[in-house]
Order: sequence, then C-alpha cells, then structure tokens
Amino acid sequence: MAVGQNVLRKEGYDKLTGAARYVDDIALDGMLLGKTIRSTIPRGRITSIKFDPAYDWSRIVVVDHRDIPGENYVALIENDQPLLVESEVRHCYEPILLLAGESKQLIEEAALHIHIEYTELNPVLTIEESLACDEVLYGTDNVLKRFLIGRGDIDEGFAAADMIIEGEYRVPHQEQLYIEPQGMIAIPGDGEMTVMGSMQCPYYVHKALKQLLNLSDQKAVVIQTTTGGGFGGKEEYPSMIAAHAALLAQKSRRPVKIVYERGEDIAATTKRHPGIIRHRTGVTRKGRLTASEIDIVLDSGAYVTLTPVVLSRGAIHALGPYRCDNVRIAARAVVTNTPPNGAFRGFGAPQVTFAYEMQMEKIAAELGIDPLDLRRINMLREGDITATGQRLTWSVGSEDVLNAAVERSGYSNRDKQDKQDLKTDGNKRRGVGLSFFLHGAGFTGSGEARMKALAGVEITTEGRPRVLSGSTEIGQGTRTIFCQIVADELGLDFDSVEVEDPDTSRVPDSGPTVASRTTMVVGRVVQLAAREIKDKLINFVGERFGAPEAKLVAGKFTANGKYLASFNEIAHEYLAQFGELRAYARYASPPEIEWDDETYSGDAYPVYSWGAEVAEVEVDIDTFEVTVQKITTAQDIGRAIHPVLAAGQIEGGTLQAVGYGLLEELVWDKGRIINNRLTNYIIPTSLDAPEMETIIVEKEYPHGPFGAKGVGELPMDGAAPAIAAAVFNATGAFVSEIPITPERLQRVIEGGQVD
Ligand code: MOS
Repeated sequence: MAVGQNVLRKEGYDKLTGAARYVDDIALDGMLLGKTIRSTIPRGRITSIKFDPAYDWSRIVVVDHRDIPGENYVALIENDQPLLVESEVRHCYEPILLLAGESKQLIEEAALHIHIEYTELNPVLTIEESLACDEVLYGTDNVLKRFLIGRGDIDEGFAAADMIIEGEYRVPHQEQLYIEPQGMIAIPGDGEMTVMGSMQCPYYVHKALKQLLNLSDQKAVVIQTTTGGGFGGKEEYPSMIAAHAALLAQKSRRPVKIVYERGEDIAATTKRHPGIIRHRTGVTRKGRLTASEIDIVLDSGAYVTLTPVVLSRGAIHALGPYRCDNVRIAARAVVTNTPPNGAFRGFGAPQVTFAYEMQMEKIAAELGIDPLDLRRINMLREGDITATGQRLTWSVGSEDVLNAAVERSGYSNRDKQDKQDLKTDGNKRRGVGLSFFLHGAGFTGSGEARMKALAGVEITTEGRPRVLSGSTEIGQGTRTIFCQIVADELGLDFDSVEVEDPDTSRVPDSGPTVASRTTMVVGRVVQLAAREIKDKLINFVGERFGAPEAKLVAGKFTANGKYLASFNEIAHEYLAQFGELRAYARYASPPEIEWDDETYSGDAYPVYSWGAEVAEVEVDIDTFEVTVQKITTAQDIGRAIHPVLAAGQIEGGTLQAVGYGLLEELVWDKGRIINNRLTNYIIPTSLDAPEMETIIVEKEYPHGPFGAKGVGELPMDGAAPAIAAAVFNATGAFVSEIPITPERLQRVIEGGQVD
C-alpha cells in the first residue's frame, strides 16, 4: 500500500538538485523583459501621461489600455477590474502602462522617463471610512456583497439567556509571502498564445487569456511552471500578470517575461481581507449558548476579485464548531481605495475564527467557567446541526481533536501552574490558551456540484499509469498524493505511477487548486478514473483468457488463484489492440448533500475538518514581547494519505498563523504600503517557531479517497486565537485585535487590568 506511507515526493528530487525550473529560470530566444508602471495615488483621474521626447523609445515596447483588443477587464466573478487603467484610479499600485525591453536595466531606465499626472480625489482607506462615506465608490452604498444566515428565533434566544455578552474583534491584512514571487512568460504564436508561469489555477488563467485575445480553447495554452508556494496569492492574481505579458508579447511579437520584485509583489498583489467582527451572545449561567448574533464586515479593497466567496466562507464559519439554536449572521464586504484583497489560505475563516474563539474566552471569563468546559458544553458532535442547518452525519472528529490537544499539552497543567506559581518567573508571565475550530473542505454550497471537476488517468506507451489533472503542485504534495491514490487503486508500486504536467493542452479542468479541495475532491475523481482503467483491463483480461472472474491484485491479473499476466503485459496488449487507454471521471457531490443558495442554508460543505490547538506562551512584562513556547495541535483530516506531508501542511499553516496572530502588520500611509520588504514586513523565522506537537486524527470520510478530507486551510485558523487566549491567561490582558505586537499589548495592559 502507498496510501498512509511517507513515500518520496514526486518532484522532490528535482527541487533538491536544482533541476526544477521556476519561471525566472526560463530564458527563451529573443525574450524581452516586462515591467508594470503603476499608479502612485489611491484615488483620482489621470490627466496626462508624458513620454520624455529626448529619450530613445525605439528600444522599448509600450502597451496601454488601447492595446487591449476586447474589453478591458480581468475575467473573474465580476468584470469590474481593468487590466490597465484608462483614466480612473481606484487604488495605489494600479497598473497603467506596460513596458518591455531587452534588459532589466533598460526598462528601469525607461520608466524614469515617463511622467503621469493626476487630479487627486479623497480616498476611502478603511472599513470605517467606507461605511461612513457619503460618496459612492461602488453600487449604491459601497457594500459589494452581503450574506444573511439565520436559524431559530434570535429574540427568543436572547430572552432565554441569563447574560448577554458583547465583543468586537479586529483582524488585519496579511501578505501570503510565497517564497517565489509572481511571474509569467507569454509566447506569441500564429493566432495563438502560450503563457507559462507560477500559478495555482491554470484554467483561471486560460479563461482570462481566451477572453483577452478572443482565442478558442485550443489556441490559448497555459502551462504551470514549478511553483514556489501560493497560499491563495496565486489563485486570481496570475490572470492579471498573464494578460499583461500576453499584451506585451502580442505587440512585440516576442516572448515576454514579467517577474515581480518582492516589494512590488507585497504592495500590488492581493492580501488577506481585514475585518471587524462583532459578537452578541446570549448564554445561560451554566454556559449554554442560547443566541448568537454576529456581524462581519470585510474590507474588499478597490475591486470585487474573490471577495464574495471569501465573505461567504467567513459567514458560514462565523459561529465555529458550536451548537446554538438561535443564530443571526450578517456579513458585508465594503469597498475602499486600497489594493484588492483576495484569496489567502483559510479564505475568510481565520478572520471569523479569531473572533468566535476570543468571544468564547470572554464568555468563559465572565461566567467563571474553564474555557475548555465551555467548549465541551457547546461543541458540535455527530448528529448536531450547524448555523446553516446542516446535520453532521459523518466524520465528526470534534471531541477527538479537543481531547487529544488537551491531553498532549500543558493545558491540563494550567491550574496546577497557578497553584505552584509556575506562571511567574521574574519579569516573565506564562500562560496557556486553547482554540477549537472547524473548516469546510471543497467549494461552498453548490459550487462543486456546478463545477463537476474532471480528471483522468491514462496508460503510457511504457504501460504505466499517468494522472491527468489540472490540479497544481505548489509545494503541498498534489503530485505525490495523486500517485499514491492511483497506485493503491490499481495495486501497483507508487514509483510506477506518473503525473502529466499541468498544461491546458494536455490536462482537463479539475477546478482550481484552492479551498482544501485537491485531495478530497480531485483525489476522489482521480481514484474513480483509475478504477475505470482497472475495470477496462479486467474486462479485457476476462475476454482474452476466458476468465470472467479475473482480478487485479498487486500488479498481477489472476483468476481463481491462477496467475494470468502482469499489469504491464496486459497494458501493452491493450494498447496494441486499441491504440490508447484513457479514462476520465467527474466529481459528483454525495447524494445526501443539499444546499439552498437563496436562503443560504443547508449542507454548506460535504464534510468538515476539525482542529484544536493549545498555545503555551511567555510574556515579558517589561518589553511586552510574547514568545510562543509550544503549540500542540490535533487535526482531524479524515485520512492522511501522506502523513509527513500532512504534518508539514499543519506545521506550516500553524506557523503562518503565528505570524498572523503575533507579528504581521502592513503599515499604510495614505493608501501606500511603507513596509513592503522582508526587512520590515515581519514574518516568523525559524527562530520564532515554537516547538510543535502535531497529532493527526483520522475520522474517515466515506466519500473521500481512502477516507481523506481537506488539510490545506484548517491549520491557518487556530493559532492566532490560541495565542491571544494564552496571553489573556498569562497577563489578564484581553487583546481583541491582532497582531499582538508589543506596542498593542502595552496599550491593552497599561489601559487595562493586570494581575
Ligand atoms: Mo485558496 S485561499 O482557497 O487558494
């Protein structure tokens, strides 16, 4: 069996030896380098663009909006975001012009000879300003999307409460900070265009490219190059860069490469949506939730991009893993004159998780109940109903993860620490905090049913199975896991299975590589395609040997215990007779799943992954620095197809969430980001990484491949609230806004209560 084994990663050797080629490693004959000229103001109109007449422009290709053959927008949910500004500027760093030339030095020099003048308008830069603004930037009230989720009777719920507790929580922007910056190469052909680069979703780029140049499915070709991380940041933005490269390539009739510098990437591309989340919760004296009213406002930035789906996931996850019969969740996204926010691991859930978990801490403190007991009193268990009215019928690991995280961590010593005075050591205060959370895997609601993801398996001329899928490897293990699934479905060695490169001319549209859907949804489709290959070969063997009872076990065809032939022999015979052997399968949602888009109720996801996390921190009360000493996390992901890769996802996501909770903060000045460098946008390094203990819980999901659920995003949800809860436990300071920088903690402690 390959599933459950820590086999060698398919692409590991190439990455380790340096053979893997990232987009910036690729040089083509005659290739030009491209550069983007961006707006320097957050809001206004362009009044003039002047090209220095003394400069020699013959060496530079210049593209503006008039070079766009069709309509000027990035094809996404709403077609509101221009590829190049015509006159109205809606945020800083908005692309206005594109340049291409033989060398980087040349295009940088040319850029200095372009002068853009504007009439500036007052920008709207924050959620508060957008809500208070009388001017309309978008729609009628600057709100670009709303969701309302309701269940039970909220007034009755509050009437039944002994106490009503309110809280307001604030969460910041966060930059994805993949190691490899964004980049694309466009190669013009005869009536066709090929784009290759760093991306999560070749078919999103394909759609944008087709619409831009009015090409057929075949004439637009998109190829993913080895990609150094995505985290959602390479979900939608690559379509913009691909279009820019293609416009330059079309005008110059030469291949053009655009690779962003880090500073440009941090400033101009999407980030996690900041938000303000308010909770009003009715509870009984014994800690039972009777009513939960939640108001979510996210900052979309200047354009729609993926905001509606991020907001939807935020709204659906807003009550977390808790049971409450009377719920009202109102979610809005508002427009501001800041760069559009977009997909980032967790996709709305980390924002609301910080809020609901801090609200649970607050309730526990006000009622004088242990936070762990409060979770146990209210947690969703199998058979319970979620905020959207979904009855949880399978693979509910809630109790298992909570128990495992508590047992394996210092949480059980929390009270003992108090008694033995372990909490205090000179100017240090120690604390332990808990978080508990869930994450729906796959597209929300009817998304997967509509998408019907397609994937396939073919047999190569060498008689080996090869996976055909548009899902991308971005460091998380797609290629390895798909091969493990196919190997076990066919009873072959892991090493004998190959994967086709994600190239839209060679692989089908398996949907985007997002939403914790690759293993659970596409992995399932790959498994079904492999099963069809197996059935075809068994039928073939049955006829060929007159053995209808033929079986395929461990790479051998047998009938009644008698050896007939090897997989490889039969594969060759089949190919010799029929020319090819290929099978495709499509995803179908489990038949029990029902979702109503009108009322926003029903089965929001086919299944959820569950997590519990305990953070142990030390707070220096002189400097207000927080050190995370240990994080213990237990996550129920159905089945770990590759335990080391799964643990890697959990540890990496958790560390990214330590950054979210403690360190990462963009500094803005009139719509500009002034810390867009790795020296001043601070992410956790190995020195900031706490000791981590990761426990994988496997509550198998009957419709996932070998029982697997999603693992990609869940680990991003839990660390920030667990750390804030530990800081609360250590110091008595309740920090309702992240990141918990020393400056912010000082303000809370000096204005608040310390024990
Ligand atoms: Mo994602 S944040 O669903 O790429």
